[in-house]
Amino acid sequence: MTLIDHDLGTPAPKPTSRNGEQTAVEVTIDGVKISVAEGTSVMRAAALAGVDVPKLCATDSLDPFGSCRLCLVEIDGRKGTPASCTTPCSPGMTVSTQTPKLERLRRGVMELYISDHPLDCLTCAANGDCELQDMSGAVGLRDVRYGYDGDNHLSLGKDTSNPYFTFDSSKCIVCNRCVRACEEIQGTFALTIEGRGFGSRVAAGFNGNFFDSPCVSCGACVQACPTATLTENTVIELGQPRRTVLTTCAYCGVGCSFKAEMQGETVVRMTPYKNGGANEGHSCVKGRFAWGYTNHQDRQLEPMIRESITDEWKKVSFEEAIAYAAGRLQDIQSRHGKYSIGAISSSRCTNEEVFVVQKMVRAAFGNNNIDTCARVCHSPTGFGLSNAFGTSAGTQDFKSVEYSDVILLIGANPTDAHPVFASRMKKRLREGAKLIIVDPRKIDLVKTAHIEASGFLQLQPGTNVAVINSLAHVIVTEGLADTKFIAERCEPTEYAIWSEFVSRQENSPEAMEAHTGVPAAQVREAARLFATGGNGAIYYGLGVTEHSQGSTMVMGMANLAMATGNLGRDGVGVNPLRGQNNVQGSCDMGSFPHELPGYRHVSDDATRTMFEQLWGTAIQSEPGLRIPNMFDNAIDGNFKGLFVHGEDIAQSDPNTAHVESALSSMECVIVQDLFLNETARFAHVFFPGTSFLEKDGTFTNAERRINRVRPAMRPQTGKHEWQIVCELANALGHPMSYNESSEIMDEIAELTPTFKGVSFARLDEEGSVQWPCNDANPHGTPIMHKEKFVRGLGKFTPTPYVPTEEKSNRKFPLLLTTGRILSQYNVGAQTRRTKNVAWHPEDLLEIHPSDAQERGVRDGEEVTITSRVGNTVLRAQVTERVAPGVVYTTFHYPISGANVITTDNSDWATNCPEYKVTAVQVSPGRSVATAELDHPAHRLSALVRMANQIARQFVADTSLDAVKSTVAHLERFWEHEMRVDLARAVEAGSITVDDVVVEAVRRLTVHA
Ligand code: SF4
Ligand code: SF4
Ligand code: SF4
Ligand code: FES
Repeated sequence: MTLIDHDLGTPAPKPTSRNGEQTAVEVTIDGVKISVAEGTSVMRAAALAGVDVPKLCATDSLDPFGSCRLCLVEIDGRKGTPASCTTPCSPGMTVSTQTPKLERLRRGVMELYISDHPLDCLTCAANGDCELQDMSGAVGLRDVRYGYDGDNHLSLGKDTSNPYFTFDSSKCIVCNRCVRACEEIQGTFALTIEGRGFGSRVAAGFNGNFFDSPCVSCGACVQACPTATLTENTVIELGQPRRTVLTTCAYCGVGCSFKAEMQGETVVRMTPYKNGGANEGHSCVKGRFAWGYTNHQDRQLEPMIRESITDEWKKVSFEEAIAYAAGRLQDIQSRHGKYSIGAISSSRCTNEEVFVVQKMVRAAFGNNNIDTCARVCHSPTGFGLSNAFGTSAGTQDFKSVEYSDVILLIGANPTDAHPVFASRMKKRLREGAKLIIVDPRKIDLVKTAHIEASGFLQLQPGTNVAVINSLAHVIVTEGLADTKFIAERCEPTEYAIWSEFVSRQENSPEAMEAHTGVPAAQVREAARLFATGGNGAIYYGLGVTEHSQGSTMVMGMANLAMATGNLGRDGVGVNPLRGQNNVQGSCDMGSFPHELPGYRHVSDDATRTMFEQLWGTAIQSEPGLRIPNMFDNAIDGNFKGLFVHGEDIAQSDPNTAHVESALSSMECVIVQDLFLNETARFAHVFFPGTSFLEKDGTFTNAERRINRVRPAMRPQTGKHEWQIVCELANALGHPMSYNESSEIMDEIAELTPTFKGVSFARLDEEGSVQWPCNDANPHGTPIMHKEKFVRGLGKFTPTPYVPTEEKSNRKFPLLLTTGRILSQYNVGAQTRRTKNVAWHPEDLLEIHPSDAQERGVRDGEEVTITSRVGNTVLRAQVTERVAPGVVYTTFHYPISGANVITTDNSDWATNCPEYKVTAVQVSPGRSVATAELDHPAHRLSALVRMANQIARQFVADTSLDAVKSTVAHLERFWEHEMRVDLARAVEAGSITVDDVVVEAVRRLTVHA
């Protein structure tokens, strides 16, 4: 596939609403009559009429600037030669773009540019992809009358500080496209033109170097640069790409479309696709540059098996690994019953892969023990939105934010976690939309370049529901509710009950202030703004869902949106910002133990019958085990076998000691992944996974957009992941086979009403579609619940605030909350294996200066963080981003083991872990002695963990392979023997916990 974007020079004028009428203007360009929307530039109209006017400073992703003077035209009745990029069409205008005068003027402009440009075209990295080169050809430049000896910029140096691209100042034509891209598209304002006239040059930040500037490496400037000044290092190294495959980023839930630009099986660069529905040509550092992990030396390409987790891995053929895995699972089921095994699917995998995993569980395992990593992130979204509106998904597409007037951002940090959507949101904010932020941490959007939030409700972690109730209280009691919308669209009885509930004094901002810490006046002001400021949109993230009241909060936000009439049109809605690339899809595909694909309960006879008839086997009508139940049952000895598909539960799930204890209690753990991750330490079978560049399927992003993931290269492992799963199902006795992944999507469409119209052919034709896509909505559904809700009338639900049991106290006086950082992704398995580590080489603990001073903690020094369940060591960052009493960290590095300290408290409805609230103590230094742990088993786990950390630190500090292998051996030894055998010894009283540590350290010394 070749995907050459036709650059129309300037953007289309924006209508006042998405399908809003625009006045047409008729113009004649080089004799061709064309009708365009009012406000269209002459340059764009010409391009639409088939005439590309030469240009350098213009591109259709940026507002016109009018600096290069190459796009001159002549207009009948007007004097001079105006720039076509900055001249709007007016009715009846007659334009000439190609006259001898214009050609002469353009050649003159190009002569000036080329007289100050290196003449190294043949050896330049951009040769063949350079607009300066193209324009020289287009204007017929044959000579430079001024020569090349005058003052010039040819000796200016290169900035190679950014790991991914180079800035070669000598090639800069000062067209300003990079500066404008950074401002208009990315919204970071990292670049400027310093100096004047001949001395003008592009500068990044104050030091003039990209790495030390506020640049976030989104690549927009590189994309915009018409010359070789800003060039990807991979292009400099490899040369120009020769083929292009359109695919989808595999990092976050924004789901950006990218062109994988290839030389054979080698990626030369990933460039964001202009027609990508989610990103419209923009990208962030992860999707744009952080794909090197796909060829990292740690990648495992062959299946492996081992009898015991203390044995060395043995590489085997796929046939042997599949037969071995099937044999062990069958053996377990024969001894412990069919409910003793299950699987966890991943939101990083394609819809097709997830579908076959849940099918294998239901049809070949014969139970419903399938759960997904969405359990630990957005399961409350499914529950809450389904309850209120009748469907488990966000209501809008991303474009909708361009029509928002007030944005209520709760528990989300889009500039770090959903950067491309953040750029779109920032653009709307710069246009004048208001922003209200509800977050315990002062995220960037509170105040950043050209943006300042109108309200920042810096609440105590765990009090979201108290805030949403008090916002609703103000809206209802001050008569700001949208009574017309409520009367027409919502259940009247439920509304009456809810409005009585929120009106109670106990829900007033004044009453809730004691819980939330947010001054009542701020809440009142925010509520009034949201209710009266025009289109109000709610965007939220894991700071909402990962709480003991996660589902309650989702319903609370749905209540607020209905009460203010903010649903069913552009600019409004309740919008989850999904964490992983395919969280939405993995939920859609039936990855929960109680739901078949399309969110239909397993107890529904008609639905089950449909699946049973197609699959030729009975499906259990009782829900299976959720992830936490699987772990508990494993520890109790009733759950013995687990297939973990593309998920590192030993690192990503809360209370690591508990997870590890469960995993080490199982008889057969099968891991399918790119790398031997933390979970693989407990595995008996390892199936190699494929990277997104090898996958063939679809991802569904946070806006329900189904995007194609097309293989840019063959699977390096020799097999697609879905093929391995099907072969395992076959070996277990249930036939499952497909020739192509498109056939899996055909089966999904056949069985799932909301996907009825989806096929690879339709996606190829339309680019992407947002479900529901069926007979009623053949082109998909960008905005849901337009005329009525999926459930009919919207349902208000009272949401009483119930404080979490995880409270700070004398022993654990601080509340820890967690989040992500831009350059890293989730548990870091991918991004840690890229040059992104340059920005975030370790997780840090943010602590307020007053809390730091009280504890003698200094910036940059190690601290021990202790919770009820474990302890870990991080480096402190003393900052006012967090409020006194709150500490914050990211969880991207296994060595810091942030989840060692998170508890297994969870959401009441969905068991989504309460990652966002953990009571902790922080003390300076690396100290086991500070671990005031209550339970000997927890203490033992923490101590074992500590020993592991020492081992890993040891690995990080040396490059000696022999030492690494010794330590790896010791790690296994500790994990297994110390946990299992020594724990028994502790229980039996023959050895103390402290003796275990002494013994571990002694053995480490001996072995290392
Ligand atoms: S990479 Fe992005 S953030 Fe950095 S300077 Fe370029 S446009 Fe700005
Ligand atoms: S770096 Fe590129 S985009 Fe920026 S001013 Fe120079 S030539 Fe134009
Ligand atoms: S915003 Fe998300 S989907 Fe887009 S490039 Fe970045 S990580 Fe990928
Ligand atoms: S393209 Fe119009 S002035 Fe540069």
